Amino acid sequence: MASIDTSGGGFVREAVRNRRILGVALIAAIGGFLFGYDTGVIGGALLFMKKDLGLKTSGQQEMTVAILLLGAVAGAAISGWLADKISRRRTKMISGTVYVIGAFACAFSQSYWQILASRFWLGLAVGTASFVAPMYIAELVPPRIRGGVVSFNQLMITTGILVAYIVDWGFAGFSNNWRWMFGVAAVPGAVLAIGMYFMPFSPRWLVDQGREDDAREVLEKYRLQEDDVEEELAEIKDVAEKEFSLRELLGKGVRRMLVVGVALAIFQQIVGINTVIYYAPTILKFAGQQNTGALTQSVFIGCTNVFFTIVAILLLDKLGRRFFLIAGTSTLTVALVGLGIFFASPGVQHTVGWLALACLLTYIAGFAIGLGPVFWLMISEIFPIQMRGPAMAVCTMFNWGLNFAISYTFLTLTGVITKQGTFWLYAAFAVCAVIFFVTLVPETKDRSLEQIQSDLGADADAALTREREPETARV
Ligand code: BGC
Repeated sequence: MASIDTSGGGFVREAVRNRRILGVALIAAIGGFLFGYDTGVIGGALLFMKKDLGLKTSGQQEMTVAILLLGAVAGAAISGWLADKISRRRTKMISGTVYVIGAFACAFSQSYWQILASRFWLGLAVGTASFVAPMYIAELVPPRIRGGVVSFNQLMITTGILVAYIVDWGFAGFSNNWRWMFGVAAVPGAVLAIGMYFMPFSPRWLVDQGREDDAREVLEKYRLQEDDVEEELAEIKDVAEKEFSLRELLGKGVRRMLVVGVALAIFQQIVGINTVIYYAPTILKFAGQQNTGALTQSVFIGCTNVFFTIVAILLLDKLGRRFFLIAGTSTLTVALVGLGIFFASPGVQHTVGWLALACLLTYIAGFAIGLGPVFWLMISEIFPIQMRGPAMAVCTMFNWGLNFAISYTFLTLTGVITKQGTFWLYAAFAVCAVIFFVTLVPETKDRSLEQIQSDLGADADAALTREREPETARV
């Protein structure tokens, strides 16, 4: 299997040469964009909806933020099954429709219970988008740009978060503003649902359904002249004929890959990224800002996130995944310690009032060059192609589950172990993450998927070889 070009440059070059693929990438971008928007918008909306919906306790506010994440766990689980059953394309059309309904339901909510139900519903679409968008695209685009597209998806997640912050800031002065903050998401949701109607089915799904001729047609349309469609089709057929059972998925051979994938999923969340993404305005208010100032500064955080994600996309293939994981996570650890110091000493708050914002910006830069893109990229690289779908679903569910646990407990935790204690706890998790990356995460840069698999476990390779033997005998 050829090694995959994961460079942003490769993706841009290919997109210029192959406009149809550009169209597909843009649709994927809408899925990632909505993932970012719908998770990011709550930070600003919460400041205003508290009064209208009577969210008095921090528990109610936390649940309003976190219920979407429970919906996302369910969405990721259901969409894995749905994408196989009714196709990736139709699943994405449904998720676009769910987004539209969810946006209106949130915008028109009149009570705590209504906003909870609406945000859970929205979460179903977010969980689906986080999982089915990369899966659909990975199955449709040529392998040489698959990595670039995966990272491009993270760029769109961060863009969605930034747009959410800008929308929050833009609507801050309007009455009923939080309703608009949620409502405008109906537009990209509709574009996703309608756009997917014009997109092709995934060639792999078509082969699975026994529709080989249709798959050939899609490949011929979405490949360049020099690409060998018949060879690719034969490879897809090879893969489609081999299914990994749940027993094999949990078996010894792939255990180490799962440990790395699931650990990355957990660490991505327990360093506290989404306390910053969802509660940035609240944290800045803790640090003494007013509503509008806090929202303006959140926009800086969003811009930093986008900027450093671009840096990562451009340099990941030069400097390697490990370098960014270790350097990025070490950087965010320092920032977390700094935030703790800020909240621990009133003297520091008076003399260096800007320290909280500086620490938040440093934190987000460290995340954006490391755990942000590298988690999603690595889980698409470390699993054998035959089990990539279910294995990615497992990692995705862990990611959303931990996202829920951390966001749900943040405000309560700041009350129980203090603000500084909370940030220092995340710093301790980040130190564990760095130790794990240094000792157990392999470098996947410049390696073929088979090399990566054999690095992660000889048993996994043996399992794959066993699967392949009858295949070779048939040929
Ligand atoms: C994470 C999200 C996070 C976002 C921030 C993504 O990779 O999965 O939980 O909100 O990055 O940029």
